[in-house]
Amino acid sequence: MSSTSQSGLPLISSRRGGHAVIDGIDMIMLGSNDYLSLSLDERVIAATREALDIYGTGAGIYPVLATTALHLELCEGLAEFLGTESAAVYSSGGAANSGVLTTLVEQGDIIISDRLNHASIIDGCRLSKADVVAYENRNVVKLREALENAGARRRKLIVTDGIFSMEGGAAPLMEIYKLARAHDALLVVDEAHATAVVGPKGAGTAPMCGIPNGSPGLLLTGSLSKALGGASGGFVAGSQEFVDELHSFRFDAIIVTRTFVGSQDCMCQFAIINKRTGEYWHINLAEFLADRRHKIECRIKR
Ligand SMILES: Cc1ncc(COP(=O)(O)O)c(C=O)c1O
Repeated sequence: MSSTSQSGLPLISSRRGGHAVIDGIDMIMLGSNDYLSLSLDERVIAATREALDIYGTGAGIYPVLATTALHLELCEGLAEFLGTESAAVYSSGGAANSGVLTTLVEQGDIIISDRLNHASIIDGCRLSKADVVAYENRNVVKLREALENAGARRRKLIVTDGIFSMEGGAAPLMEIYKLARAHDALLVVDEAHATAVVGPKGAGTAPMCGIPNGSPGLLLTGSLSKALGGASGGFVAGSQEFVDELHSFRFDAIIVTRTFVGSQDCMCQFAIINKRTGEYWHINLAEFLADRRHKIECRIKR
């Protein structure tokens, strides 16, 4: 097998414990988003094999004709882990973002969006047909101005990354949430890089800022492709009312073939192992990075 990619992209021939063999050289992998190394955990791999043995590959028409016990356990596990009333799974974090934005708002509504939000949020804003106002990154003064200028709307929606994907800053969610409540706006927080990484017990950015995930008017989106095992899949979590609204109206919930059960199994196992053994997998990102840095320094010295 070739060890060097002909496309010029780095070619990975194996991965193990934070390392990857890239173009034939053993390197420390710091660019995987697999923050907890769950994708290489033997329990996760064994459980994924088991799911494949039972359900095979293929997505089916989820949720209408392909829902399995694993999907239900995944939704319940996510809601329980995050402390929300309910959760729904999507084929990716990006699909969750565009699904939420295109379902919850429509022409005549307004979305107020942080300028540095993830590309899938920007796509969702465009697809929603709502008016969109982008405010300066993490600037609550500009956000307040946008809310004050929004006028009367059927629905106002503020959307922000919890932890920003490119520069790593955290959204000032306490101030943002207070503004949202004061202006009767729904707050959607993309927790792709925050879930299982920041906040008490890895519950994310809102709890880190003192707002429980189950708070009224707060909806979370997220991805299974980062700390939750590097699997493909996404989620929305919040009140039963919002999750039901998403289920009743969302286009992709009814007709799109997606959500391969095996690929989501890492997160299922995360939920299931947690539930069954009470084991707690969250690690503090700062400690994790310090540990990684220490290991790199040791390697450099050698
Ligand atoms: C902040 C943020 N939101 C959403 C996504 C999309 O997640 P997914 O890769 O599961 O589509 C990403 C990842 O690339 C991200 O960084």
